[in-house]
Amino acid sequence: MPREIRITVLPGDGIGPEVTAAAVAVLQAVGQRFGQTFRIEEALIGGAAIDATGQALPPATAEACDRADAVLLGAVGGPKWSDPKAPVRPEQGLLALRKQLNVYANLRPVKPHPATLKHSAIKAEVLQGVDLVVVRELTGGSYFGRKERHADRAVDVCEYSVAEIERVARHAFRLARTRRGKVTSVDKANVLETSRLWRETVSHVHRAEFPDVVLEHQLVDSMAMHLISRPRDYDVVVTENLFGDILTDEAAMLAGSMGLLPSAALGDGPRGLYEPIHGSAPDIAGQGIANPIAAILSVAMLLRHSLSLHREAEAVESAVSAVLAAGESDTAQRARDLGGTATTAALTSAVLAALTAAPSATASAKDTAEAAFPAVELRD
Ligand code: IPM
Ligand code: MG
Repeated sequence: MPREIRITVLPGDGIGPEVTAAAVAVLQAVGQRFGQTFRIEEALIGGAAIDATGQALPPATAEACDRADAVLLGAVGGPKWSDPKAPVRPEQGLLALRKQLNVYANLRPVKPHPATLKHSAIKAEVLQGVDLVVVRELTGGSYFGRKERHADRAVDVCEYSVAEIERVARHAFRLARTRRGKVTSVDKANVLETSRLWRETVSHVHRAEFPDVVLEHQLVDSMAMHLISRPRDYDVVVTENLFGDILTDEAAMLAGSMGLLPSAALGDGPRGLYEPIHGSAPDIAGQGIANPIAAILSVAMLLRHSLSLHREAEAVESAVSAVLAAGESDTAQRARDLGGTATTAALTSAVLAALTAAPSATASAKDTAEAAFPAVELRD
């Protein structure tokens, strides 16, 4: 009998509930098609959790994530909870969860689909062939350093240990080995002490363990420029938490819209935290018009990285690709953030239809499940 795979879903705020509902529908369809049983447990995070419990990451949510094989999150935050004097903010729930799960390596792939190139503010010829992944350090740096607030000054300490840098660097080098074999490490070593340690440590890990991978170092300010002027030159980009936050919003623009990009936050084991990189978009929340593609592609990353269900991940990606291609010439099949008129429900149905229409997997569902399970630690 196939064992259950436990997925904890944290819809969060704004458009979070809408896009996670779409992603869960796709996950369930994958389960039906390939013979896996996904047990979905929903829990509160962010503003929704503050409203219900007073805490951004209530203990019940922390426990639900702890017992999950993977966690899928929508988005957190919104104007309702952004009073600077508020004792607790939605974003604190997300940061606490990243820390709790120890998901220190945040993979943010950017590979613009040919059908969306013309929606980017950047020229199509610059974007042709772009295929990069930013590996953002996610549990250190100024996000987690000591903070102080006084009437006339404030402090955010940026601190990194060698061990923290080494583990995320290894992640980036291992990933590069499965791709085009190049890592660009981004820092501000001409000014920051943490960046000098970053550069030294990444170089050391490279020499000692990954000499077959090409490593280059780049300063973050020039990286911000080159990411726009020659994005094709990058394969794996590894950087610290705050630089990674900023550069990935910039990189999202290469794909035409934030509504298309998924992410995976990974640690030492298979369990990960998956989320679209877009935010809660309070301006369009509740209207049924959010683009669910980033959340659906986050499900593909979940299938691949936490469950080793590669065939299933590819099926989801192919279905999304077919939907994006159909939207190229038909605005009714294109998301609003790409200039179309399709609703969240219409896009989700289109992905589900493409998933069902694709040729059947060569192995039986049972074979697929058996091949995948040994790699995954599943709890009964
Ligand atoms: C992101 C977001 C978060 C971050 C916020 C919501 C705390 O911008 O995932 O990129 O800064 O990490
Ligand atoms: Mg961000």
